Amino acid sequence: MNFAAKMEKLPSKYVVKQNKMIENLEKKGHSVIRLGRGNPDQPTFPEIIQEAREKILDSSNYGYPPYGGKKSLKKAIQSFYLTSYGIDLLENQVAITNGSALGLSSLAQILLDPEDLVLLPEPSFFGYEAAITLANGKIYRIPLSAEQDYLIDYSQIPESVLQKAKLLFLNYPNNPTGAVATKIFFENTVAVAKKYHIIVVHDFAYSSIYYTESPPISFLSIEGAFDVGVETFTLSKAFNMAGWRSGFVVGNEEIIAKLNIYLQNAASGVFGVVQDATVFALETQFSETKKLNELYEKRLEVVLTALTELNWEYYTPKGTFFVWTKYPDRRSSQAMSEYILEQAHVAVLPGSAFGKSGEGWLRISLVNDEQELKEAFQRIKNIQ
Ligand SMILES: Cc1ncc(COP(=O)(O)O)c(C=O)c1O
Repeated sequence: MNFAAKMEKLPSKYVVKQNKMIENLEKKGHSVIRLGRGNPDQPTFPEIIQEAREKILDSSNYGYPPYGGKKSLKKAIQSFYLTSYGIDLLENQVAITNGSALGLSSLAQILLDPEDLVLLPEPSFFGYEAAITLANGKIYRIPLSAEQDYLIDYSQIPESVLQKAKLLFLNYPNNPTGAVATKIFFENTVAVAKKYHIIVVHDFAYSSIYYTESPPISFLSIEGAFDVGVETFTLSKAFNMAGWRSGFVVGNEEIIAKLNIYLQNAASGVFGVVQDATVFALETQFSETKKLNELYEKRLEVVLTALTELNWEYYTPKGTFFVWTKYPDRRSSQAMSEYILEQAHVAVLPGSAFGKSGEGWLRISLVNDEQELKEAFQRIKNIQ
């Protein structure tokens, strides 16, 4: 069959390959500890589930959801942003999406014509490359390092590239590195975006998971940010709702208007029960997200202690449920992760799965309980 060429260009997810290897090991009777996942291990908070049980009996939820999403949800998002980040959103600055993966790919669809140039920091979550590829865009990669706290130094990007670039994807707290953005960095971003007419999409997926005194800042809190871009948000991580597919995009109203038109044509909205549960989560579950954050913090301590004992360097994460570590070995990160999987039956993701500049690093997730994390590192120690 004749498929569109972009289907061949889509980045192959290393996770898929790794899952096959895990299945094979499990078939042979081995128990594999999975530290490669980005899926929260804890269940959705019980009160949210209760709310959904009630709302599934509401027959107004059985038809197509209202265009652009329920008013109650937009209101809840407005109050959530005001309380959490001091940002006063207008209703037409909010779009409802089926999780942020759809938000990100839809943004690429409405913003890019074929061959348009997109700035993509690296290492980065593979969703951006997929979104750009599906929109037939072109990528200019910006390699980042631990020394620069995984923040872009715009003066290192050639002027000709900045002149041509149409879009920039950012993500802080950052998957896979755990880096967070500073106010100055975001201010520089707005200045560059204004000067070169670049649209900024900031992915705020891990906004609620942080190990710093103050919470991570929203890109929209920076003066002028609304003129240049939007922020994507998801319920997947903060409320353990990855399977519910609930998210939203907020910011520049021209972008939001076009995004709503695209979403209406491509997806026809988010199931009403999911929207109701999202309203409830945003309005009432703040203390639960705090507790969840504490849980990850305890797990983080276990992992950092184990890495220190192993003598592996790491980038101390300031947010997310990932630890980015540099193993003291000359092997490629893929060879190293496969060695650990085959010998210790522990799955971790190779840094190269996040782009070439992730080479030499591994990503370890904190979505397993402390006991399993300890057991995983004991196994890794045994094969050193
Ligand atoms: C940085 C980042 N953005 C977006 C997503 C996708 O989230 P969602 O479940 O909302 O599609 C993920 C999922 O792992 C992620 O790590």
